[in-house]
Amino acid sequence: MAQLEIHFLADRPDALPLVAGWLYTEWGRRDPGNSPEATAERLAAELSRDRLPIVVVAAYNGVVVGTAALKLHELRDRFPELRYWLGGVYVSAGARGQGIAGALVRHVEKLAVDRGIAVLHLQTERLDGGLYAQEGFEPLVQIEHRGLPVLVMAKALTPGADIASSMQSAQESAPASGAE
Ligand SMILES: CC(C)(COP(=O)(O)OP(=O)(O)OC[C@H]1O[C@@H](n2cnc3c(N)ncnc32)[C@H](O)[C@@H]1OP(=O)(O)O)[C@@H](O)C(=O)NCCC(=O)NCCS
Repeated sequence: MAQLEIHFLADRPDALPLVAGWLYTEWGRRDPGNSPEATAERLAAELSRDRLPIVVVAAYNGVVVGTAALKLHELRDRFPELRYWLGGVYVSAGARGQGIAGALVRHVEKLAVDRGIAVLHLQTERLDGGLYAQEGFEPLVQIEHRGLPVLVMAKALTPGADIASSMQSAQESAPASGAE
């Protein structure tokens, strides 16, 4: 029976060039001077199961088909108070629409909980929150980033945690007009 498993990239270093290619093509090529090789070097230097960023990969019958990461700070200049982020969620084109991204999101949430992280943040170009809304993330603020509208979202992970302080600092950092 087909089986989806999620591993640390640190435990599947063979997948590093593939993951680097995805990240470069989807996001990294916007950065001047970046390359797939530079992305792979950075990923290799950061490989970890304990220290953030922690990158995971989804493998379907052993074949790596997706990735996601638990990271420190995205959009740091805008939101210095929002510490922990889910990022780099990517599923290969042929494997989409089968719940793999959802499984990656839930896995990263668990990694965060295991490390005592109370609130997780993310940014998405899906202004309705897409799969993240389905996974319980709530909108904090909409901003413009690199010329595109993006939604910043948060989810409280632990009992007693709430997103109120994230909401407050996000709205102070990026007023509702959303202009960059
Ligand atoms: C977004 C992505 C990771 C979804 O992977 P997937 O394995 O097909 O996702 P799942 O099967 O778990 O969930 C599918 C849901 O994701 C939603 N979705 C698609 N793109 C999305 C996005 N950018 N942000 C949030 N949700 C998205 C779909 O609408 C779908 O919802 P539906 O079931 O109500 O139609 C995949 O399309 C991808 O890698 N896209 C390119 C990279 C990217 O945009 N990553 C997200 C960055 S925030």
